[in-house]
Parts: sequence; structure tokens; C-alpha cells
Amino acid sequence: MKRVAILISGGGSNMMALVASMTGDHPARPVLVASNDPGAAGLGKAAALGIPVAAVDHRAFGGNRGGFEAALLGPLLDARPDIICLAGFMRILTPGFVDRFAGRMLNIHPSLLPLYPGLNTHARALAAGDVQAGASVHLVTSALDDGPILGQARVPVHPGDTPETLAARVLAAEHRLYPAVLRRFAAGQTDRVDL
Ligand code: GAR
Repeated sequence: MKRVAILISGGGSNMMALVASMTGDHPARPVLVASNDPGAAGLGKAAALGIPVAAVDHRAFGGNRGGFEAALLGPLLDARPDIICLAGFMRILTPGFVDRFAGRMLNIHPSLLPLYPGLNTHARALAAGDVQAGASVHLVTSALDDGPILGQARVPVHPGDTPETLAARVLAAEHRLYPAVLRRFAAGQTDRVDL
């Protein structure tokens, strides 16, 4: 059974979709949900399901990314994860941290990468006049929102969409995509998923 740690920064709806999927014959189980924000709503949701949780407030470290990551490593290594899933985790990680988990850290990003790395993906897709949008799950490398793509889910852009309406449609697709990719990845399959 593969051990999965999930890092979040907010509501944790992707985390909840991942957790809900890891039952029965699924080859993985959640062992930790950790956040850089002690107020992240997802922490309470995970704790209510009996999943160990940890919070390391990045603000306590000023701009010292290395100090924050060293503190985060404590609970993370204690959980002995085989796989780390970034799920709405909004901190940029240093190459040192990323390299430690090379090949076993996944991220979900709300665009059809390589389009729109970074923030405000939905507004950028609308401004470009895109007729399709979506989400990507990729292996994390030290380049932001880069790394081999493990899966993508596409949704239509509707006339009159706002960043908010498009974000909601993409988020629903994320909840299908991330569990599908994680299940395959935990089973050792790295061929790409397209939904
Ligand atoms: C999701 O849309 C995820 O793709 C995005 O944040 C949202 C988190 O929602 N992630 C990023 O933008 C990463 N740069 P959630 O907390 O409900 O899963």
C-alpha cells in the first residue's frame, strides 16, 4: 500500500476528492494532510475523517523559504510518504525540497499546461478567447508548473463565462482527474490520462 501525503493551502476540495478515492482496492492510502496555513479549511475536513493533519505557518518564516520547508519536512518525513500530492498548495517550493521527492511529487494546476503556468489561469484563458480550458496533473520539477504531464481534463468555455464560472467548471473536472491520475500513478502506471 502506497502512503500519500497531501499538501493544501485552502478549502481542500481536491484533497477531499483524493481522500474519498483511496478506499477498497485502491493501491494507496492518505497518511497526512499538511498546510502552510493553519486556517486552511481543508485541515478540519481531513481531521474529521481521522487523517493526521499538520500546519506549518509560512508567515512565521518571513521570506525564508528554506526555513519554512525545513519545518514542513518534520511532519512530512514522520509520515513516511511514498507519494506527495500538492492539491491547491500555493507556495513555491525550492529545488532542494523538490529534488528530495523527485519522481513522487504530483501537482494539480488549473490550466491545460503548458498554457498559463502561475496564477489567474481562468482570466488568462478567457482573455485569450480560448474555447477549451481544463486542468493538468504533472510531476513536480524545480521549474514552476512544469514537469511531465500525467493527465489532463478538458472542459468547454461557454459564452458569457467569467473567471468564477469557468473556475467552477474546471474544479469539477479536477475532482475527476486527480483521483484518476493518482490511482494509476500509485499502481506504477505513468501513461497519460485524458478526460
Ligand atoms: C484548484 O483549482 C487547484 O487546481 C488550484 O487551486 C485550487 C485549489 O482548490 N491550484 C493552483 O492554482 C496551484 N498553483 P481546492 O483547495 O478546493 O482543492
